[in-house]
Amino acid sequence: MTTSIPQITKLENKTRLSNPGTVVSVRGSVVDIRFDAHLPSIYSLLYAKDREIAIEVLAQLDAHRVRGIALTPTQGLARGMAVEDTGGPLNAPVGKGILSRMFDVFGNAIDRQAAPTDVQWRTVHRAPPALARRSTKSEIFETGIKVIDVLVPLERGGKAGLFGGAGVGKTVLLTEMIHNMIGHQEGISIFCGIGERCREGEELYRDMKEAGVLPNMVMVFGQMNEPPGSRFRVGLAALTMAEYFRDDEHRDVLLLIDNIFRFIQAGMEVSGLMGQMPSRLGYQPTMGTELSRLEERIANTDAGAITSIQAVYVPADDLTDPAAVHTFSHLSASIVLSRKRASEGLYPSVDLLQSNSKMATPGIVGERHYLLAQEIRRTLAQYEDLKDVIAMLGLEQLSPDDRKVVARARRLERFLTQPFFATEQFSGIKGKLVSLKDSLDGCERILRDEFKDYPESALYMIGPIDEAKKETPPNKPEARTEPGTESAVKADLKSAGGSKSKASSESQPKPEPKPKPEVEHAVDTHEP
Ligand SMILES: Nc1ncnc2c1ncn2[C@@H]1O[C@H](COP(=O)(O)OP(=O)(O)OP(=O)(O)O)[C@@H](O)[C@H]1O
Ligand SMILES: [Mg+2]
Repeated sequence: MTTSIPQITKLENKTRLSNPGTVVSVRGSVVDIRFDAHLPSIYSLLYAKDREIAIEVLAQLDAHRVRGIALTPTQGLARGMAVEDTGGPLNAPVGKGILSRMFDVFGNAIDRQAAPTDVQWRTVHRAPPALARRSTKSEIFETGIKVIDVLVPLERGGKAGLFGGAGVGKTVLLTEMIHNMIGHQEGISIFCGIGERCREGEELYRDMKEAGVLPNMVMVFGQMNEPPGSRFRVGLAALTMAEYFRDDEHRDVLLLIDNIFRFIQAGMEVSGLMGQMPSRLGYQPTMGTELSRLEERIANTDAGAITSIQAVYVPADDLTDPAAVHTFSHLSASIVLSRKRASEGLYPSVDLLQSNSKMATPGIVGERHYLLAQEIRRTLAQYEDLKDVIAMLGLEQLSPDDRKVVARARRLERFLTQPFFATEQFSGIKGKLVSLKDSLDGCERILRDEFKDYPESALYMIGPIDEAKKETPPNKPEARTEPGTESAVKADLKSAGGSKSKASSESQPKPEPKPKPEVEHAVDTHEP
């Protein structure tokens, strides 16, 4: 399975003579080619126009014609042009030489440095490891981000997804995780950019260079400026590199993908161009197969583990979208980002009730952590239920116990925000890493009402819980009677309802909301 394909250039002369073809038709990215001598097999890579245009064979139409999808723009391609058959599939470079480098889907270096020399070339189309070779460990992968470590613990060697609509903070959260984990993980990190902004790739490269973690990192990009064929294959190229480090070098790999939805979308474009009938909501009929072909290769074997974190764009914030649903089923942890929390400035905008992880069981995280997480969820769910009553009757109508629940839930919500290193530049607050122990302690102390006399804002955007005590003295008795508790809660409820309807029509992210929102005036909600 790991046989290496000789470098294409060596085959060049031989194949050019042995199997020439001619372009029959060009429709956008879809090209039909006639071969008289020998029909190239599926996934063969063809070149036209002095190797300027690359085409991958996806269908054999009849005894002499194949249909392929171009991996490069097809500008300048015309009927009758000569096509050469490389005799092999698309290859990706693997080896130590690719470390600290940045590549495109063909394995060309795009960091303005010379092409790496000591590399082998391997096909990007590979089978997932056999079931017998797979291994499972149940080990926690700490991220230093409170809300994730407490409520959605990640699995070492697992797949985690960051789900969210446009502009709710997927890329920021992914970047923060890279920042927090890459330094103290001994393995290799591979970042794959699929169909996202070109500038984000460049920014990440610069950040990683400055942070000095580039020597253990590889980046592969097929961003939104590339044709669908290229975006469709770039994920496989990144996986091929990850598999090399796992299988040949026996190292653990962290594979980061932004954004897996763009892979599905590229497949949809390819499928449409190839003339297949669309399935639900216009998605390709083969979406499940294509996605599992990619996801199943992200597996752990006795040789090493591939831990993967994938951003998943959710169209129109609709988690029942087929693309999101298919992706959910492959993951061991789903971090759902909520527009409501983002609109309140509660970053990271993780939806505390919808996110879940299969690691959150007492056997793996331990009894205390499990029970605490359950209690946090219960408190938040109760607050969620009470919101309707508060909106209609007011906070004053709640029983003292219910009011305690509201106070705890709102403090928990704020404690689970965190300043990020990735946003230091525009938020002006220094990023913070918090250990799992500190995060758990903080939540426990809030649930035990230790902070009921502190204003909610004291818990907002802090690291460990003791910072709340350092900066803010408890409310003075007279401050306790300060009016506004109810209006703050109500304002939150109102803004939540309002932003929801706006959210679905709004597809562009807001320009940098200031992370000092209404919590400022969100006064205490404790008992009077
Ligand atoms: N942790 C955070 N702290 C402060 N602001 C944040 C945070 N996360 C996100 N934001 C704000 O939200 C904006 C959009 O974030 P980001 O680019 O990560 O969204 P996205 O989900 O990747 O969007 P897209 O789907 O368009 O790629 C950021 O530019 C920033 O202003
Ligand atoms: Mg993004």
